[in-house]
Parts: sequence; structure tokens; C-alpha cells
Amino acid sequence: MSHPLVDFRSDNCGRAAPELIDALVRANNDTALGYGGDALTASLQKRFAELFETPVRVFPVPTGTAANALALAASATPFGAVYCSPEAHIQTSECNATGFFGSGTKLVPIAGIHGKVSPEALEGAIAVAGKGLAHKSQPAAVNLVQATDLGAVYGIDEIAAISQVAHAHGLKVHMDGARLANAMVRLGCTPAQATWRSGVDVLSFGVTKNGGLLTDAIVVFTPGVAEDLGFHLRRAGLVWSKMRFASAQIMAYVADDLWLRLARQANDAASEIAAQLESLPGVTMAAPVQANELFVDTAPANLAGLESAGFLFQRRAPGRARFVCRWDTSEHDIAALTGWFRKQAAAS
Ligand SMILES: Cc1ncc(COP(=O)(O)O)c(C=O)c1O
Repeated sequence: MSHPLVDFRSDNCGRAAPELIDALVRANNDTALGYGGDALTASLQKRFAELFETPVRVFPVPTGTAANALALAASATPFGAVYCSPEAHIQTSECNATGFFGSGTKLVPIAGIHGKVSPEALEGAIAVAGKGLAHKSQPAAVNLVQATDLGAVYGIDEIAAISQVAHAHGLKVHMDGARLANAMVRLGCTPAQATWRSGVDVLSFGVTKNGGLLTDAIVVFTPGVAEDLGFHLRRAGLVWSKMRFASAQIMAYVADDLWLRLARQANDAASEIAAQLESLPGVTMAAPVQANELFVDTAPANLAGLESAGFLFQRRAPGRARFVCRWDTSEHDIAALTGWFRKQAAAS
């Protein structure tokens, strides 16, 4: 091995931000009511209403999968169809949690580029869905992943166009915001613009990947979704008893724009790598690098070479690798990866 392991496997592999650890320690005093009846969880509701500039309901949950599946269970019927990208995490990587927690809700992949869904594909899919026919699952919701599972970011206008189609047909808009902070840094917009002002009804709000420890959240903007969510969550065993420790993390995460600072560090690292790699022969990006992930198409021999040089990353299709930058990706990591590719290009 030519240097110590350099880890680009996932943003799940990174450390938790010290600010969140400190917040947990601060929350560890006195007694407090369980299941969200505590003062910190109450303050989280107020803080998110300020942050999103509208009344919201916030439900801390243990994982992003729980956030997605339960947000959709509360938005769709058991005989409902949820439209999503073929690349969407709910479709590729959640073991049909949407169907399980939705008691039968079906995922329907539709076309789009770079991990997005297109409004035209959504309109087309709804048109042929057989609305009102008891033989067919009924259009219920659309899922947008922000940033997408190929590292691209939906523009505000793109979200609005999809929402317009969805709402015109009575569908709910669910955003999987596992990497919302990374997308927001890219867009330079407010949380409100990124979500409900563009038509999002319910949001999976990512924390863990961007410096959190053990919590994400569901944020509900639209009346009619939150009412049943508490029952869905409790039935699924997904309500923290010591909720205050989850709420303390989320409060610290958004305090003083920490979430955006952490995401900016990760995005900057990804942009720096992309800028250097894009000019090299034999390396192409499968999608624009707009957040903290790079999907790189290159010769399979390069991927084997990277592995034996001690780089950790995910292989996707043959000849495609995913490199994920985190808030704690270092200059050393960036220089090691780009240096390896440069050396390889010079030798070939
Ligand atoms: C886009 C996206 N959504 C949701 C999740 C699910 O998160 P978790 O693994 O915490 O369930 C992930 C995790 O990789 C993800 O990348």
C-alpha cells in the first residue's frame, strides 16, 4: 500500500460533528418526559417553524429509511403508487420499506436524468395509471431525492414544475432530503424555497450523513399528513423514548448554520476533486458534481489500481465508482485521490 487508507466510501463513514456531541452532553441532565414530551423537543418544533418560515411538525426518527418510509406511509394509501427515479434510494436500497410500512404502497420508477424524475414523465405515468380503476394502484405521491442518488441537485424551478403536476392530480410531494444541506449550499436558497415554497409536502430531513450521530427527522408542511404520522411511527417502533437526545442533536445541527457549514466543506471537497479529474483523459462524471458525491466512469483497471493503492470507495456498475466527500474529508484525502489519477493519466 502506497499510503494509509483514504476513505471515500460514504458520508456515513465520517465522524459526528463535535457540536452535536457537546449538545448531547448538555442534554444529559435532570429528568424529562419521554416520547417527545420534553422541552427540547418542544423547542425543536418552534425552531423549525422559524427555520422554514411556516408552521411545521417535526418528528425525529432513527434513520433516513424510517423517515422516507413513514413519510410516504402517511402520504399514500396502501393501494397507492409512489413515483420515483429508478435511482431513488427508496427504490434501490430500502428493502421495500415503503411497501412494508405503507401496508402495500407500490413504487413506480419513472424517467429522468441524473437521478431526477421529470415532470413530463410524471404527467405521462399518471395519465396511464388507470385512476379510479379498482384493478390499478392509485397515483398517490412523488418522491424527489435532493441531492439525487447520482450527486446532482434539483433546481428550485424543477421542483416547482414536478410539484405542479403532482398537485394538479392530487398527489403529495415527498422530498428525500438525506443530503438537503448539500443541495441547499449548492442552490444558495432558503429552507423554505428549497421545500414547501416549491411544493414539497413532506420532507425527510437528513442529519446523520452530514455530521449527525443517530437521528434524522420527518418535517411535515401540509395539513393532512402529520395527523396520522405519530400512529405510523409508534406502530413501527420508531418513536424515541428519550427523544430529547435526538432533538438536542437536531437543534445543534441547525444552530448558527452549522448544517450548511458542514455541507459546504463536503461540497467544496467534491468540487475540488471534480475540477481536477474532469480535465484528465479516461475519466468522466456520470452526472454533474453538484453536491458531495462523485460518480466517476473510468477503466476497470483504474478502479482495481485505486483499491490496491489503499483508496476506499464504492464500486457501482463495472467501470463506475462512487466517491463521497464528507464534512471531515481532508485536504490530504483530496490531494491523494487527485494525485493518484494524475499520475495514472501521465503514465498512460
Ligand atoms: C438519498 C438517501 N436517502 C435515504 C438514505 C437512508 O438512510 P439510512 O441508511 O439512515 O436509512 C440514504 C442512505 O444512504 C440515502 O443516500
